[in-house]
Amino acid sequence: MELYVNNVSKQFKDKRAVDHVTLNITPGVWGLLGANGAGKTTLMRMIAGIMKPTSGRIEYDGIPIDRLKDEYRDIFGYLPQEFGFYPEFTVKNYLEYVSALKGLTAKESRRRISDLLEQLTLTNVCNKKIAKLSGGMKRRVGIAQALLNDPEVLILDEPTSGLDPAERVRFRNLLSEFARDHIVLISTHIVPDVEYIATRNAVMKDGRLISTGTTEELVKLVDGKVWSAMIPTKYLPEYEQKLRIVNLRNEGDDQVSIRYLSERPRTEDSVPAVPRLEDLYLWLFPQDTLEREG
Ligand SMILES: Nc1ncnc2c1ncn2[C@@H]1O[C@H](COP(=O)(O)OP(=O)(O)O)[C@@H](O)[C@H]1O
Ligand SMILES: [Mg+2]
Repeated sequence: MELYVNNVSKQFKDKRAVDHVTLNITPGVWGLLGANGAGKTTLMRMIAGIMKPTSGRIEYDGIPIDRLKDEYRDIFGYLPQEFGFYPEFTVKNYLEYVSALKGLTAKESRRRISDLLEQLTLTNVCNKKIAKLSGGMKRRVGIAQALLNDPEVLILDEPTSGLDPAERVRFRNLLSEFARDHIVLISTHIVPDVEYIATRNAVMKDGRLISTGTTEELVKLVDGKVWSAMIPTKYLPEYEQKLRIVNLRNEGDDQVSIRYLSERPRTEDSVPAVPRLEDLYLWLFPQDTLEREG
């Protein structure tokens, strides 16, 4: 099981959305990180086979994916970022419909749907119309349809947007389990969603792959650059101007505890903080600082 993205680029008129990306993807969870516009969706659409690269190629176990034809449908599962539903279908009817498209037998389909409804805690709403579901439930239906054919390669584009914290935890557990013997590629700009489950991460910026590695490896890149300190609240606006604050917490009326990124300590009582993947991300994407979700 190996997905090989070999020097792939995608050009849209004067925009190079994906720029010479090479990645060798093996079983496990792969987090594809990057700010909006980095090229994640374009890369995933090419891997999912719904858009052709301008140059380079993508192979699965040595075979170019555009030569896989019908096998392709069995190998890949894909959740697009903008997922179009059939609002008048019930959850169950919709999943039955997708099963038929994917060529599952009626028996396989019944078993698979019931398992997935259970795993994604959708059993209670299986007879509800999709139009009536909450955002998080719709996302889970989207994840279920991508998993229906038990794909060897699962591609999920921003799967966690709209999930509440409990749903996120269940989702992470489900994927960690699934990824033991499957390839799972997840794009997100919500770093904590992949931090603990990603076997490896790939970070994209302006269409290019700027770093890849395990969470531990990537976090080393900001070792010694993350600090925490206490400052008087009245000076906060001033510190916000001069420091790259990634987190802050009020400690009583006149003190605030801050976490910031810098090559060196910038206050007298700063102490080194244990770096997290999000710190690396914010180091690489300064404009995203303090504009986080979830
Ligand atoms: N079909 C398209 N035509 C023209 N430009 C596009 C198209 N799709 C994406 N882009 C541009 O390519 C860049 C990467 O977009 P995208 O892959 O959606 O990034 P991400 O998913 O990381 O937010 C953006 O600048 C976007 O505007
Ligand atoms: Mg996207």
